[in-house]
Amino acid sequence: MNKPLRIALTKGRLEKDTVGLFEKLGYDCTSVHEKGRKLILPVPDGNLEVVLAKANDVITYVEHGVCDLGVVGKDTIMEMNGKFFELIDLGFGKCKFALAAKKGCDFYSGFGVKTIATKYPNVARTFFESKGMDVEIVKIEGSVELAPLLELSDGIVDIVETGTTLKENGLEVVEDICSISARFIVNTVSLKMRHEEIEELVKRIKECL
Ligand code: PRP
Repeated sequence: MNKPLRIALTKGRLEKDTVGLFEKLGYDCTSVHEKGRKLILPVPDGNLEVVLAKANDVITYVEHGVCDLGVVGKDTIMEMNGKFFELIDLGFGKCKFALAAKKGCDFYSGFGVKTIATKYPNVARTFFESKGMDVEIVKIEGSVELAPLLELSDGIVDIVETGTTLKENGLEVVEDICSISARFIVNTVSLKMRHEEIEELVKRIKECL
């Protein structure tokens, strides 16, 4: 038998739905449920090895070919812009990128350069460039919603899922940027070298969605 295909899954938000998908495909994911502190988890009946990682690292591992496959949000793909193939929109992990600001603030009024706080500076830059609007971008790692409340920024570019975080902090969506969902990605060399196995897995996933 070939060595296992190694797949990097994003920890956190997408984890439950991703493991659910692999179980729906018929794989025994006990090792993932009972992972403890173990980092490489075998799924022997699928000849797979699962690595659970942070979203940015999923892309890094797949780009470098140390993982053949990955499941990661379109948000991270748009921000990191790596070299890999995006094969399937998995349809879960649905949310959107949006520009948000304090409720009723009339974001686009005035002539001064606006300051935007975000965890996604590339996405924010591309969005405002498409409008021909000059903005100052401040990278924030944690709860970006804090930035306008602390008067650090005029607005934020962030993920909105239920809208609860915005609402509970007196913010509102100014403009939707784009929809986001989880994607199945593959290393470019793996797709060539292990084409049949990957094609078969892709086919099975598509039938399952
Ligand atoms: C994201 C995002 C918002 C929140 C939006 O953060 O940055 O803060 O979710 O979700 P809502 O519209 O359902 O309220 P996340 O919870 O992923 O945590 P993070 O700050 O660690 O990215």
